[in-house]
Amino acid sequence: MSHNTIEQNQQAQPLDHLDSVWLFGYGSLIYKADFPYLQRRPARIHGWERRFWQGSHDHRGTPVSPGRVATLIEAPEANCIGMAYEVTPAVFAHLDHREKNGYLRFFTEFEWLDDGQSVEGLVYVAGPDNEAYLGAATEAEIAAHIAHSEGPSGPNSEYLLKLAEALRELEAHDAHVFAIESELRALLE
Ligand code: SIN
Repeated sequence: MSHNTIEQNQQAQPLDHLDSVWLFGYGSLIYKADFPYLQRRPARIHGWERRFWQGSHDHRGTPVSPGRVATLIEAPEANCIGMAYEVTPAVFAHLDHREKNGYLRFFTEFEWLDDGQSVEGLVYVAGPDNEAYLGAATEAEIAAHIAHSEGPSGPNSEYLLKLAEALRELEAHDAHVFAIESELRALLE
């Protein structure tokens, strides 16, 4: 599958007939909302876990030296805390461009952290069949990779450190992210 997913997302899933759509963010979408939204609410998605297994050719790395960014991996017993945004369909022109490096969006259920009610919305996931996928590595290896990567959106370390900070603000303990963070902080010192 090509790593540029803009057309695939727009063809598979036109949204113009909807007034608004909820989007669940679990990576940079948590801390970098560079788009207009109607409201946002902390949420949890079940059956998925956050992993730094996706390569970034366009934001935190380059095609020859990709960075490592978050995707979701299916894990039936797991859940993942993030931030959901209610947006108008027009915002997906920007979001599809931002998430074009291997991420496909699909509708799924997630629940609000505060009252446990479920809602249906979109989530972008970069699966193992996309060309930019890097796959599993130890947290020490991931930290070493992130420490030397940089792309048009800035250093890869900034992505990881901002995400860890945002997760603490949400009181979300993510052992994978926090283990990479502590390895990375030691390397950056
Ligand atoms: C997301 O944040 O939901 C998608 C992955 C990313 O852009 O970091």
